[in-house]
Amino acid sequence: SAVRELTDLEHLEKELAKQLPVKEVHIVRGNADEDESVKSDLGKIAAEAVMSRLKDQMIITVTGGSTVAAVADYLKPKSGVRPLFVPARGGLGTMYEYQASSICVKMAGQMDGEYRLLYVPDAIDWDLHSKVLEEPSVKEVMSKIEQSSLTIHGVGDALTMAKRRNSNAEELKKIQHQQAIGEAFGYYFDENGKTVQRVHSVGMSKERLSNIEHVVTVAGGSSKSKAISAYFKWGKSDVLVIDEALAQKMLSDK
Ligand code: F6P
Repeated sequence: SAVRELTDLEHLEKELAKQLPVKEVHIVRGNADEDESVKSDLGKIAAEAVMSRLKDQMIITVTGGSTVAAVADYLKPKSGVRPLFVPARGGLGTMYEYQASSICVKMAGQMDGEYRLLYVPDAIDWDLHSKVLEEPSVKEVMSKIEQSSLTIHGVGDALTMAKRRNSNAEELKKIQHQQAIGEAFGYYFDENGKTVQRVHSVGMSKERLSNIEHVVTVAGGSSKSKAISAYFKWGKSDVLVIDEALAQKMLSDK
């Protein structure tokens, strides 16, 4: 017959799209926890999702992490379009290659676009925040973040992220005690989507995120299943790009 059979991955995509508040789900083969090359496949599909939504002068906010870093490899120039890349948040203290700033520079290079960076030290006191936000250079970048219409972001398991950020024993204990499950944009949240802790850094707030037109979420590995499910209770996503192992774990956890 002319009706094409759906592949197993397409079935998974449909099933998840039905269960989650998201417009599109894309699933790639494999498990990023076990195979680093799966991240490239995630990056490729996420890059396509970004390219298809591009508009001239678009302001694109990005977070750090190894998965978002893989998206940069697959962005290509598009004639007549010069996007501006801005980190969604100030430094969140991960490895240089995986910092939002380095990723912005790379993405802008790939697309003949531009970038602005947020030069704000990590983990500053809350009372210093308001002072930093008065700085003209910071203000300028913050206003770009406010005008962003597309964001590309990663999601992490809460404890994994806290350890990656060299949190001390007390902070780790707090994360566990508060039952933080996932982390995104510097916010730690529990399985009900409640924010339990925040990294002290400037940039895009959860409130701003809820008004972004296109939110592209990219993550892989079955170890992130609880974190991603919790993310959907916490924040907004329009396009979800994940791997097969993560998709299957999310469905079997239900
Ligand atoms: O540190 C930036 C960040 O986007 C976090 O918000 C997220 O939890 C993490 O990176 C994901 O990192 P990775 O893609 O390497 O698992």
